[in-house]
Amino acid sequence: MEYKNIIVTGGAGFIGSNFVHYVAKNHPEVHITVLDKLTYAGNKENLAGLDKSQVELVVGDIADEKLVNELVKDADAVVHYAAESHNDNSLKDPSPFIQTNIIGTYTLIEACRKYNVRFHHVSTDEVYGDLPLREDLPGHGEGIGEKFTSESRYNPSSPYSSSKASSDLLVKAWVRSFNLQATISNCSNNYGPYQYIEKFIPRQITNVLSGIKPKLYGTGKNVRDWIHTEDHSSAVWTILTKGKIGETYLIGADGEQNNKDVLELILELMGQPSDAYDVVKDRPGHDLRYAIDSTKLREELGWKPQFTDFRSGLESTIKWYTENQDWWKKDKELVEETYSKNGQ
Ligand code: NAD
Ligand code: DAU
Repeated sequence: MEYKNIIVTGGAGFIGSNFVHYVAKNHPEVHITVLDKLTYAGNKENLAGLDKSQVELVVGDIADEKLVNELVKDADAVVHYAAESHNDNSLKDPSPFIQTNIIGTYTLIEACRKYNVRFHHVSTDEVYGDLPLREDLPGHGEGIGEKFTSESRYNPSSPYSSSKASSDLLVKAWVRSFNLQATISNCSNNYGPYQYIEKFIPRQITNVLSGIKPKLYGTGKNVRDWIHTEDHSSAVWTILTKGKIGETYLIGADGEQNNKDVLELILELMGQPSDAYDVVKDRPGHDLRYAIDSTKLREELGWKPQFTDFRSGLESTIKWYTENQDWWKKDKELVEETYSKNGQ
């Protein structure tokens, strides 16, 4: 299926803006309307350099029914990234997560139902809860059974992940009850350029660049399954254009790493001693391990990740934050002050 006029919600945020750059570069025939509220995590600068005749930014809320209807009626697909996305924030104040992630998604799928517009819902592996650490499993948990698949049980832990799980369930119900032309993807942890500095990897890189010691939660044993955001973009484009309506595809690049190892690699790449960090208060309810089995996406739709060398992906991410200090410096003090009030 080909789409000529797409709406990308949250396209001024981290993953959404990387997707907009990806589509603009690889599919110049596609017109993109970015619908973004420009919360603290959204930034017009993330779209700088793109041709304005191809990419239009509409500043607005996905829960604004009138605006959403006006935009959706002229589109042929909506790719839905907009969300409140940070677990730590959801533990302090869940309310914007409920409003944007649940009510916002509901508003979009109602509009897509009304105008019969294709919908792709971008979600997270966190809806499945967490897995035990491999070291705590017999045989260190080798084998596919120890990863999430699209058949895994929903079991979210935090206000963030439960709000994303709720939005997934709405989309699934709209497909079944109203024949909404939708697909869902659940991806693992992304890294790369334009990621807001509250998140683990950019926080530590910008800490080192600011002369602040990086901060590791708890033991650092928690495992995340890292994927470069460019691979997430190519996967979403593949699902949008080749995916089967009603299906859920899990996106991952076999990038399991524990937080301590990731932090030590950042320190090494930035010329710091491997123990130059502080251990801080752990996150309440901290998920232990995520791991994605993306066989379905690879075998049924022929997708393959390209940026699987984590070390070199991290090197180029460090380079990006080093060369784009104006992009993040203005927010650094406030972000660290908020963390420090929380003992983190
Ligand atoms: P982000 O916080 O960097 O960006 C979110 C964007 O959504 C921002 O531009 C913000 O302004 C916008 N937004 C927020 N509320 C809005 C509203 N009510 N109306 C319109 N726009 C609004 O998030 P991200 O890390 O880029 O995540 C994007 C999506 O991908 C989310 O749905 C998230 O759940 C999902 N996801 C993220 C990851 C990850 O590792 N970051 C992994 C898997 C899935
Ligand atoms: O798995 C996908 C999810 O990945 C997405 O749905 C979320 O939107 C995204 O934020 C991310 O969630 P995490 O909670 O895994 O990401 P975060 O960057 O907040 O933290 C990654 C790990 O690092 C986690 O185990 C907590 C830890 N951490 C985090 C910060 C900010 C630290 O040790 N120190 C820190 O300073």
